[in-house]
Amino acid sequence: MAIHNEAKKGEIAKTVLMPGDPMRAKYIAENFLEDYRLVNTVRGMYAFTGKYKDKEITVMASGMGMPSIGIYSYELYKLYDVDNIIRIGSCGAHVDYLNVLDIILVENSYTEGNFAKNMTGTECHFIEASPYLNNKIEKTAHQIGQLYIKGNMACTECFDPYLEDPWLFVKRLPAEYQIMGSEMESFALFYTAKKLGKNAACLLTVSDSLCRTEELTSEQRQNSMNNMIKLALETTLEL
Ligand code: HPA
Repeated sequence: MAIHNEAKKGEIAKTVLMPGDPMRAKYIAENFLEDYRLVNTVRGMYAFTGKYKDKEITVMASGMGMPSIGIYSYELYKLYDVDNIIRIGSCGAHVDYLNVLDIILVENSYTEGNFAKNMTGTECHFIEASPYLNNKIEKTAHQIGQLYIKGNMACTECFDPYLEDPWLFVKRLPAEYQIMGSEMESFALFYTAKKLGKNAACLLTVSDSLCRTEELTSEQRQNSMNNMIKLALETTLEL
């Protein structure tokens, strides 16, 4: 039991897939897992533990934004002895070589925010995903023939489309980091994992782009997630 999680200790697997949306956690359990059970409902942040091809895994929602994923990932690592968290989410693109529906493997996450300073008193704005997990994801992608693009993402506190001037933000990003787009959770996940000596990775589907006008419906977003979900699930078999 944790402040924000009612699961008993043995009810969470060592590897957790983490979508942002609780309904997506439910969708993954219902469509990809066997013998699954609901182990957390606190705040509607569903966690399901079940089997993917005989491998026990948990799928738990993170909610939106760094504070939310910071809380849930901390409790999973620290109180449930979770070793690996793979975030599976969506992102906005800033660069014209990314297309809507592309799958991204995040190498490093950059934030303007102060999650790291708040947590540990240390200034840190750029952090790497776990090389261990990223290597496994890449190996699995090659095995199953899933295309992906590796690169760095910005982790924001305000959803890009709601910024007064999204391009002002993009222009402010340090050019040397070659940031491809934005999402809102990876930095807090990677930092929490690093501080607790655990593994974290982040796979994203491009759901919108500052360089394109096309927008997806929520149904299209759901469908486009399936290839990314399969890549994450197949990777868990290697862990
Ligand atoms: N910004 C931040 N997070 C996101 C975006 C975005 O444009 N699209 C999907 N998640």
